Amino acid sequence: MALVTALRRLTHVRLREYSRRTAMVTSSAWLTARRSFTGGTQPLRSSDKVTIHFINRDGEKITVKGSPGDSLLDVVINEDLDFDGFGACEGTLACSTCHLIFDEEFYKKLGRITDEEMDMLDLAYGLTDTSRLGCQICLTKSLEGMVARVPDSVADIRQSKDGSA
Ligand code: FES
Repeated sequence: MALVTALRRLTHVRLREYSRRTAMVTSSAWLTARRSFTGGTQPLRSSDKVTIHFINRDGEKITVKGSPGDSLLDVVINEDLDFDGFGACEGTLACSTCHLIFDEEFYKKLGRITDEEMDMLDLAYGLTDTSRLGCQICLTKSLEGMVARVPDSVADIRQSKDGSA
C-alpha cells in the first residue's frame, strides 16, 4: 500500500512539473523567468513564500514553506512529508485523506468552502468545526504562520465503498 501511495505521489509530482513547464513555454512567464535569470527581474524570494506548521499524528511540529497559489497537498508532496495515506486521490476530491484541522484564527482566512468539498469532508474521520481538505486550500500571504494538524486517522472513501480497506 505504501508503495502504491509513493508511486501515486511521484506521478502527481511529475504531472505537475510537466504542466508547469508547458505553461511556462506557452505564456509570458517564460519571458519573465528568462529576464530574471539574466538579471532583469527579481526571482521569487524566500520571503515571498508562506510558512506552514504541520502537526503530525505523533504531535511533532514540522515547519515548511510553500509558494503562494500552491495547495497544502502540493506542499506536502513537494516537501516529501510522510503523512501516511495523505492525498490518496491526488486532489480530485474523491478521498478525504487530506483532511486537516486548523486553528480558529486561520480557519476564518481559508476562503469559501464549496459544496463538493463539504460533501467529501463529511466523510472524514474526526471532523471538527475547523476542518478542511488540504487539497482545496491554496496558500496566500495572509496564511503566513498557519498551523495545520493532521488528524489521528484518515478515511479513504474510495476504499470504504469497494470494501477493500
Ligand atoms: S486529496 Fe483526496 S480529497 Fe483531497
